[in-house]
Amino acid sequence: MRLATTLTAALIGLPSAAWAQGPDGATLFARCAACHLPDGAGVPGAFPALRAQVGRYAAVPAGRAYLVSVVSHGLTGAVAAAGMVYSGFMPAQTLSDEEVATVLNHVIHDIAAPGSKAAPFTGAEVAALRQGREGASAQDSRALRPDDLAVDP
Ligand code: HEC
Repeated sequence: MRLATTLTAALIGLPSAAWAQGPDGATLFARCAACHLPDGAGVPGAFPALRAQVGRYAAVPAGRAYLVSVVSHGLTGAVAAAGMVYSGFMPAQTLSDEEVATVLNHVIHDIAAPGSKAAPFTGAEVAALRQGREGASAQDSRALRPDDLAVDP
């Protein structure tokens, strides 16, 4: 009887605990994969690949601010990545601070730059980088891009 009660509590408790943590990086990345493809390879000329340059952005403060801005506010304006120039438009993604951190960590550490020593994003860091930029635009993200880091050596 006691065991049954404990088991029931565990069964009821599990889904709510998983929900409280929010969706994982792979689940969140599905929305990005619609354009950047599931392996982040992108579509040359249309959607840039999420590759080594993303790991380089994540390694410096200016690049971290850029990554959070791209996901939060979108991106537009000519950008060169992996030898191609893109002049497209990425729409802002409606995600919580925690979700932005989770999806960026997945992109950086699982897809774009495995082995990267860049510190994982936290929801608190994303919140701080978003503070005061609520009305920012996709053009504003372009102005933050560290173009020198985009070029593969
Ligand atoms: C509707 C298509 C679309 C979706 C969805 C999308 N992107 Fe993008 N993304 C783009 C386009 C287009 C660009 C290039 C914009 C330009 O040409 O200025 C881009 C650029 C980027 C860049 C900048 C790359 C660089 O080298 O500067 C990053 C990082 C990025 N996307 C990450 C993401 C992540 C993470 C998600 C999901 C949370 C996502 N994108 C969802 C279309 C998309």
